[in-house]
Amino acid sequence: MARKIIIDTDPGQDDAAAIFLALASPETLSVLGITTVAGNVPLARTSENARIVCEWAGKPETRVFAGCDAPMQRALVTAEHVHGKTGLDGPANLPKPKIALQDQHGVDFIIDTLRAEPAGSVTLCTLGPLTNIGTAFAKAPEIIARVAEIVMMGGAYFEVGNITPAAEFNIYVDPEAADIVFKSGCKLTVMPLDVTHKALTSPARVAALRDLGTTAGIAMADMLDFFERFDVEKYGSAGAPLHDPCVIAYLLRPELFDGRHINVMIETKSELTLGMTVADFWGVTDRTPNALFMQDVDADGFFALLTERLARL
Ligand code: RIB
Ligand code: CA
Repeated sequence: MARKIIIDTDPGQDDAAAIFLALASPETLSVLGITTVAGNVPLARTSENARIVCEWAGKPETRVFAGCDAPMQRALVTAEHVHGKTGLDGPANLPKPKIALQDQHGVDFIIDTLRAEPAGSVTLCTLGPLTNIGTAFAKAPEIIARVAEIVMMGGAYFEVGNITPAAEFNIYVDPEAADIVFKSGCKLTVMPLDVTHKALTSPARVAALRDLGTTAGIAMADMLDFFERFDVEKYGSAGAPLHDPCVIAYLLRPELFDGRHINVMIETKSELTLGMTVADFWGVTDRTPNALFMQDVDADGFFALLTERLARL
């Protein structure tokens, strides 16, 4: 039986890759719904973008719910400098989505779904700031014990920050929400920059997607051609790190990844290190391990999976 998941996302070109990967794998993943959150770009854009991606995937029946338009306690910080003004820059023309947004708020969809589905049967896959999850846990604490697992893209330790010297973007945007999640007791599997920076695109890998000749393959290649310029210029890297699809790839082929079960806490007080994932990687404290913190990925296997699955769309 396919694993039930909710994807919480702020599309974002790399979010699009993750959504494609999930929607192309119905034998393994049952996407109960997609909830959008303000992050890379404001909520109105992330909610448009999620629906565009579902249509590019040929899955217009996918239910998309708009969630929170701002972090729990702070002003929104966005990342147009990385993703472009639309959040999906790259393709020549972004269509207006035909799919309508669901009426229900994304946070209420998360709460109602976790209440309705058997305990331990729903996995939350988070690809953006954790605002929707933190808000849902604060509003309905009884759902926490019903979550099977949270698999998230966020944080950094050895790779340090990408939005500040200390913090990764998803955690930095809403550190209070992240603090709720990391203290929740939920089973957490984390894809930090330490691992996502090893899932780098290359001209050959992008060409393999474009050569699929499909709407999804061509759109993905166009998005990656735009998305990679930021990291290539900033890090001098060979290509763009495909952060968010690491979350979905882990659910499909966990053997592609390797990490360590450690304690991770979130900095919410210091302005200097706000949003830092303080990872006790070497076990120098007596803090209880609370997260599987990934460090390595088989990049060739990851891109082979991504390409093989996008060929299905
Ligand atoms: O730091 C990378 C993360 O921030 C990714 O999820 C990207 O889409 C942005 O949301
Ligand atoms: Ca994202």
